[in-house]
Amino acid sequence: MSNASSIRCLITAGPTREFLDPVRFLSNPSTGKMGYALAEAALRLGWNVDLVAGPVNLPEPEGTIFYPVVSAEEMYHQVDALFDACDLFIMAAAVSDFRPSQYLPQKEKKSVASLRLELEPTRDILATLAERKLNQTVVGFAAETENLEPNARAKLVAKNCDFIVANDLSQPGAGFAADTNTVIFLAANGSNETLGPALKTDLATQIIDRLAARHH
Ligand code: CTP
Repeated sequence: MSNASSIRCLITAGPTREFLDPVRFLSNPSTGKMGYALAEAALRLGWNVDLVAGPVNLPEPEGTIFYPVVSAEEMYHQVDALFDACDLFIMAAAVSDFRPSQYLPQKEKKSVASLRLELEPTRDILATLAERKLNQTVVGFAAETENLEPNARAKLVAKNCDFIVANDLSQPGAGFAADTNTVIFLAANGSNETLGPALKTDLATQIIDRLAARHH
């Protein structure tokens, strides 16, 4: 399609935080390791990498254009601004599915007898962007605890992805926060391939190599 150095890859990583008041938030245990490993693997192929990341404790990969964000809504706006210029979009972030319906501008006192939280869904960033894709290759992730392949394939279709990386969270040592993982790499054309168990860094290389094959 284009030579390696002109491929522009947009990657999201890490969790998002949805604040309830100035000191409390909803989030998840994502460390950002998979998204960062994908960014490193893409850089090694000479691609241009835009990395949009929620709050993580990882050093910024040297060579990416780095966009730190906090909430799902901020991540959406940053990705929205970068999407049209990318060839490849990889949505590896663990976006909070819900956020508090109301933000309390002052710290809520714990002296209140009980606190009832009303939540509302966050915007689905992957589905929203994939809906307007032109030539972009769109890659999603699927975190599942049961019926891994059918659930992941349903997400691939519902979110208009070209590929989906399916994570089986019921496996010991898999998914969030682990260094290793086993995934199924599903394509819209119906093919599927199990990758791993392997270090996330090795899985990232295998995933990027498969995507690179499409961009020759
Ligand atoms: N995703 C997103 N925006 C959200 C939630 C998820 O872009 N608000 C993306 C994730 O980054 C991932 C894909 O959608 O690439 C699937 O995420 P997953 O958590 O597996 O599924 P959900 O769509 O949240 O569905 P469910 O929780 O019902 O399994």
